[in-house]
Formats: sequence, C-alpha cells, structure tokens
Amino acid sequence: MKEFSNPKELANYRKKMSGTIGFVPTMGALHNGHISLIKQSVKENDKTIVSIFVNPTQFLESEDLGAYPRRLQADLKICQLSGVDIVFLPNIDDMYEKNELSIKAPRVKGFILEGFDRPGHFDGVLQIVLKLLSITLPTCAYFGKKDAQQLFMIQNMVKHLFLDVEIVPCEIVREDDGLALSSRNIYLSREDRVKALSLSSTLKLSSKLVISGELNSKEIKEQMRDILKDTKIEYVEIVDREFNQIEEIEIKNTIILVAASVGKTRLIDNIWI
Ligand code: PAJ
Repeated sequence: MKEFSNPKELANYRKKMSGTIGFVPTMGALHNGHISLIKQSVKENDKTIVSIFVNPTQFLESEDLGAYPRRLQADLKICQLSGVDIVFLPNIDDMYEKNELSIKAPRVKGFILEGFDRPGHFDGVLQIVLKLLSITLPTCAYFGKKDAQQLFMIQNMVKHLFLDVEIVPCEIVREDDGLALSSRNIYLSREDRVKALSLSSTLKLSSKLVISGELNSKEIKEQMRDILKDTKIEYVEIVDREFNQIEEIEIKNTIILVAASVGKTRLIDNIWI
C-alpha cells in the first residue's frame, strides 16, 4: 500500500495508473461503515484510493474540529487489511491556499435540513470533494447513504460541473441493535447510547407505518417525534429523492430523515422508502 501526502505527487502518480480507479473519501476514525465502502470499491475496481483528511472548511466554528477523533495508525492498518492500494493523507496547507475561489452549495437544497443546522457545511464538503476528485480522477467514488443530503449534493455537483465520475451510493451500516455507525458514536456515554437508539427506532416505526398503509407525512412525523422525546430533535423530515418536502410518501422515491442531539453529540440517520 502506497501513502501520499502531497496532492501533486499523487496526481502525477495517478496519471500513470491504468485500469479502473475506485475512490473513498473519509475523515478517518474508520469504522465498519467506511470499511464497507472501501470493500465495495476494492471489489469493483482495479485499484482503490482512500483519502483520510479532517476537512476544516466543513466544520462550523462551534463544531468539534479540534476534538474530531483521529486514529491514523489504526486507520492505516484497516486500509491495508481491506486491500487499499493508495492512502492519501494530505496536510491542510497543501490542500488550501488563502483567498481561494469558493464553491457554494445550491441555494435552498444546500441550506435546508443539515444545511440549515450547519450553514456553510455543504460549501466546505463540495469544495474538498471537488479537490479530491480532481487529484484522484476516479472512475467511481463511493459515498454512504448515511449522509443522504451530502450524497445528493455531490451527485448534483458532478452533474452540474460535468465531472467524469460515477458516484456510487452505499447502504448504511448499523450495529446489531440498529444504531447507525458514526465516528461520533465514541462520544456517547452508556446512557446516551441507549437514547441514541431512538433515532433508528423511530425510522423503523416510520417504515412499519408505511407498510401498514399510512402515507401521510404529517401523521408519520408526529408519531416519530414521540419516540425521540429523550433527545433534542433538530429535524424529522420526509422528502423525495430530490430533497423536496412531500406531504404523501411516494414508494421508492422517499427518504425519511432525522437529526437529533444526545448529550453533546449530534446524530443523523435516515431510511430510504
Ligand atoms: P466521513 O464522515 O468520514 O464519512 C466518509 C464516508 O463514509 C461518507 O460517504 C459517509 O456517508 C460514509 N459513512 C459514514 N458512516 C456510514 C455508515 N454507518 N454506513 C455507510 N456509510 C457510512 O462524510 C465525510 O466523511 C466527509 O464529509 C467527506 C465526504 C470525506 C468530505 O470531507
């Protein structure tokens, strides 16, 4: 497994590579969610590149940039055991210059839900993902449905900028009890972890309601909020796959999303209906 930290060196090396390239961007502290993306890429491509970079521009001032978990040695071992060919570990100064051009997430859809609670977050995500795609020029890039709105923003960027890459959406990986894996789960105390389960429980309830024939978004959201009463709810929302709010569930075209804080930890989860 090769390691690069200099973007230009990786870009030059990449140009000499042949065959299909899979790319998995991450912020490290790798868990089974990341590993499933990596394994899918390794399976589907001749070579796989993983980036590990805690991207400062997607964190708000008030967020946990400084405290974000960093476990480089363990991450490298995981990459090696998972069959990764190249790990990209850039420094902030090599990735960003002062007074750069900026990328702006689209109005409305970049500023609802996650973008409402974290204004500017998607500008930072798109900026770094565009840079990473330009350096690695992958055939396919893998993103988790866990961050559904991020996935949607990136799919849109690829479309709007005519980027030559296939974005591959990957299923959400969960603990046995339903909790969606997240690098931030390590912040949860034992009691908070129990409360955190209400996010996946409320999504399970929503899918049961849909199966039983309840398609009214307002009704479903009300019942979902009840289950989240021990958390600080940020939003419970029902959208179509283009992130338009919908009043009626459309089978095979709906995403139900929740964001809630438990203690100081902000969690998100969703289900695709
Ligand atoms: P990070 O939070 O490290 O996540 C990297 C990728 O792993 C994302 O595509 C995310 O959706 C996926 N992922 C996380 N938890 C998952 C789970 N439980 N199941 C399936 N996939 C999961 O998302 C980012 O980093 C950053 O915003 C990034 C795209 C790297 C840009 O900085």
